[in-house]
Amino acid sequence: MKLLLTGAAGQLGRALIDKMPPGVELLASSRLGGDGLVALDLADAKACQQVVVEHRPDWVLNAGAYTAVDKAEAEPGLAHAVNGGAPRAFAEAIQTHGGRLLQLSTDFVFNGKQGSPYRVDQSRDPLGVYGASKASGEEAVEEVLGGSGQGVVLRTSWVMGPVGKNFALTMLRLHREREHLGVVADQVGCPSSTLNLATACWMVITSSHEGMELPPVLHWCDGGAASWYDVSVAVGELALDLGLLERAATVNPISTADYPTPATRPCYSLLDCQASRQVLQLEAQQWRSALRDVLKSIPN
Ligand SMILES: NC(=O)c1ccc[n+]([C@@H]2O[C@H](COP(=O)([O-])OP(=O)(O)OC[C@H]3O[C@@H](n4cnc5c(N)ncnc54)[C@H](OP(=O)(O)O)[C@@H]3O)[C@@H](O)[C@H]2O)c1
Repeated sequence: MKLLLTGAAGQLGRALIDKMPPGVELLASSRLGGDGLVALDLADAKACQQVVVEHRPDWVLNAGAYTAVDKAEAEPGLAHAVNGGAPRAFAEAIQTHGGRLLQLSTDFVFNGKQGSPYRVDQSRDPLGVYGASKASGEEAVEEVLGGSGQGVVLRTSWVMGPVGKNFALTMLRLHREREHLGVVADQVGCPSSTLNLATACWMVITSSHEGMELPPVLHWCDGGAASWYDVSVAVGELALDLGLLERAATVNPISTADYPTPATRPCYSLLDCQASRQVLQLEAQQWRSALRDVLKSIPN
């Protein structure tokens, strides 16, 4: 099976390469290329179409994205080109030339106001530019490949892995640097380890490749629910236990109003993953245990 992976230098991309099953002929890309990766700028729709025409992958796994949630408020054109334009270009090329697309998406396509976990079939209502740009990527996959079985959107949330940029690694650094931390306690979601998310992505691809019909939208997160405050406290406790810290900072809960950011974030963005877990035949690991595995896997 030939597979084009985008975002190969990102945190999920790196976990996907580490967990790649046998029998995959991988064409891995990043914005600038190098290190064995092909250069592909996701803001360049023509280049995205061209790479499909040239290489005819059985799958495009689009893990690359403009993920800077706050910066996106000032760069809506670029966020939409990368997060909306690239999935549309891949979908259109696949519609013409064959293949399948796995598009990663986010809990930020929802407004977070309903107070209960979001099912896969609920309406999108993003609050900020990042969420809107990811929603436009989902819409493109639905419009172009809907009904064909060639496009799958996999939504996830609060992604954290042992490498790259993420909340857990930032908190680990802040625990080292500071005595006290104020962390938002009134936004609830669920962390998702890149290690488990990569396994779920490969399950989508292998089961679909073996002929299983999958729903067009799936949800994947680790088990449970947490606030950013909970995750920050857990990072301190787990890192102490693992010997990654000599002492942890005191974490104080604060409200969203006390920590203004350019982008408004959903206050309750849990994804209901029950149905998707059954389809993929994967059990969820509780987020705290998954976070421990992430911290344990940080390279020296
Ligand atoms: N991170 C989260 O909390 C989160 C939550 C929900 C869903 N997701 C989704 O999960 C997927 C994987 O995210 P992640 O956490 O692995 O993000 P990440 O670590 O930020 O990786 C994204 C990758 O995309 C690349 N990229 C950005 N703009 C590009 C462009 N114009 N051309 C080519 N590559 C470009 C980035 O490269 P540069 O470093 O060079 O910019 C980066 O390597 C994304 O679809 C994201 O929307 C993430």
